[in-house]
Amino acid sequence: MKIVGGPSSKELARKVSALLNAPLALTKTKRFPDGEFYFKFDEDISSEDELLIVQSLYPPQDLHILELFLMLHTARDLGVNSVKVFVPYLAYSRQDRRYLKGECLSSGMIAEILENLGADALYTVDVHNRRVLSMYKIPTYNLTASRDLARYFASRALVDPIVISPDDEEIAIERARYAAETIGAEYDFLEKKRDRHTGEIVTYEKQMNVKGRDAIVIDDIISTGKTAANAVKILKKQGAQRVFVGVSHALLLGEAVRLLNEAGAEEIVGTDSVMNKYAKVSVAPILVKTLKGNS
Ligand code: R5P
Repeated sequence: MKIVGGPSSKELARKVSALLNAPLALTKTKRFPDGEFYFKFDEDISSEDELLIVQSLYPPQDLHILELFLMLHTARDLGVNSVKVFVPYLAYSRQDRRYLKGECLSSGMIAEILENLGADALYTVDVHNRRVLSMYKIPTYNLTASRDLARYFASRALVDPIVISPDDEEIAIERARYAAETIGAEYDFLEKKRDRHTGEIVTYEKQMNVKGRDAIVIDDIISTGKTAANAVKILKKQGAQRVFVGVSHALLLGEAVRLLNEAGAEEIVGTDSVMNKYAKVSVAPILVKTLKGNS
């Protein structure tokens, strides 16, 4: 197997390549003056049996998506036998059904195109909504970064830690449970509602056993930061000592970091699913473990 490092995930691809002991394919990319993307394999890959394309779809997601499509198309067009894609942040995973009449089914469209272009399997991390993966006919694997995020915080000499999910969705509570089990901590969750029209978020306060303890808020995505900031505020108000925030996909848009800092977050930690200065945990080991388990 050879690894293709897409423009959004070059460093992550290098880590996957090192852990798998599989070489990186030589590629060349550029952007034309009008913004169009150019991609070429800088070696003959036509007789290659298996490729793994690594490309996360964080913002600007539409650019990253087209890059992925072009890389996948090129690989299949040149005759590579099997192409798997590792897309840690699977953009457009919120729109799995028509919540409002007339809406587009963007996650279904991404699935359709990836399959039509010839992807043989999709690996992703903490997908926002598992229903999205049921739209694929090819095998899909949803890995979780929550255990590795918890291990990262364990190095912070935690005092009687408790893991908190900032919302009550089953998948969110499950992530908090995985994180808690990894470091032998308790877990709890908050209830959150988002207005589909205005995007406004309300988190309902409930009494939690956090006084004097360190808390870790675990979530899949931080976008505007409102969900996590609400949770941090409630935890601090109830007497939590330090509140860490661990997130699989730290998009951290707009004022998110300011909101989290003002709420009292001790440290914000993301993964290399999104390349920014908060990417302190790598998702390469969980992918490699899954690939080895499948082979
Ligand atoms: C919600 O369902 C997700 O798990 C995240 O909590 C959410 O996407 C975070 O969004 P924001 O940072 O805008 O509150």
